[in-house]
Amino acid sequence: MKEQLKMAVVGLGTWGENHIQIYQDDPFVTVTAVCDQNPERAAGIAEKYGISQYYTDYEEMFDKADMDAVAIVTPDFAHKDIAVSAARHGKHMLIEKPLATTADDVRVMVDEINRCGVRAMVDLHNRFSPPFHAAWQSIRNGNLGEAYSGYFRLNDIKWVATDLLPWAAGSSILWFLGSHSLDTLRWLFQDDVVRVYSVSRSGILKGMGVDTVDEYMTTLEFSRGAIVQMENGWITPNANPCVNDIKCNIMGTKGMISIDASNHTMIQEYTENSVRVPDVIVSNKIFGRPKGFAYDSIRAFTDCLINNREFPVSISDAANTTLTLLAIMESAGTRMPVEVHGLYPVNWKSGTP
Ligand SMILES: NC(=O)c1ccc[n+]([C@@H]2O[C@H](COP(=O)([O-])OP(=O)(O)OC[C@H]3O[C@@H](n4cnc5c(N)ncnc54)[C@H](O)[C@@H]3O)[C@@H](O)[C@H]2O)c1
Repeated sequence: MKEQLKMAVVGLGTWGENHIQIYQDDPFVTVTAVCDQNPERAAGIAEKYGISQYYTDYEEMFDKADMDAVAIVTPDFAHKDIAVSAARHGKHMLIEKPLATTADDVRVMVDEINRCGVRAMVDLHNRFSPPFHAAWQSIRNGNLGEAYSGYFRLNDIKWVATDLLPWAAGSSILWFLGSHSLDTLRWLFQDDVVRVYSVSRSGILKGMGVDTVDEYMTTLEFSRGAIVQMENGWITPNANPCVNDIKCNIMGTKGMISIDASNHTMIQEYTENSVRVPDVIVSNKIFGRPKGFAYDSIRAFTDCLINNREFPVSISDAANTTLTLLAIMESAGTRMPVEVHGLYPVNWKSGTP
């Protein structure tokens, strides 16, 4: 009989609510406490999901509530203080992507998590995406020869920046989706990026009242020589039938992988005045239960804790994604190539839960 894992969740917005549903769907996990700085949200979510303890202050929650681990699901730039406090209270943690948005935050989080001896994973779910997982397997099996070069577009429709995220101006498409595309590329190439050259363009979102960059076009150079073009934009027209626009091409010395994970033809719904491509693989519900690879990634955290297995994405692995994204932003700011410094060692052979 597996042990019951006690989870808490901090940040009860769109994605934090999904975390609760996933944990409550697992017979081996109990959500013992939740926290949101918005008191109505904290009370409302606790009542909706029958969770007896709710807090508006995470320090108080860590002091008083009974938990083994916590999920940190606050906005992109608000992960560090909660992670440090969780580590000091001896709690394991699942941190939403991106790990952090400054190099100082990254260092403090990695140091404190290691010093306190707690376990931490970052939710970079594309490693669980069926087409990307198949690509990873092809590369590992040697079907493509050496992975040589690539192209990755991961864009969102404007609505995400203008309507969904109240904090979009405090973040960017690089943090919100670039973290996924860069993590996927690093994982597919089993290598880190050593040099970046990026250009960006702004104006469309600013004109709509959201002060953030519209689009980045980035060239990545990996340590073993691979070259990749990565595109991340937040300005895809809202009529695009999918929220995401994902295209990826990996060129090897003996073959090629081509992925179009957004405009698939598996299912399309047409009415007199709309076309919809329902999400059936990322984060959907089947008979009310959470299914899809974005949920599998969160489930992997609790599975790995319960079964004492290695996490699929370690803290230092995710730290390198943040450090590389910072180099991309610096490059886009200066219009000059930038070397990526301070990367952590990554064991690419591990991380298969
Ligand atoms: N893995 C994925 O597929 C995925 C999808 C969406 C969002 N995310 C990530 O999840 C995180 C949250 O995104 P979201 O869309 O749910 O945002 P959101 O704005 O819907 O929710 C954030 C919540 O955090 C609360 N909060 C902020 N600071 C807090 C603090 N110090 N203490 C307690 N509560 C605090 C806010 O009140 C809000 O309710 C982000 O890092 C985002 O990138 C991941």
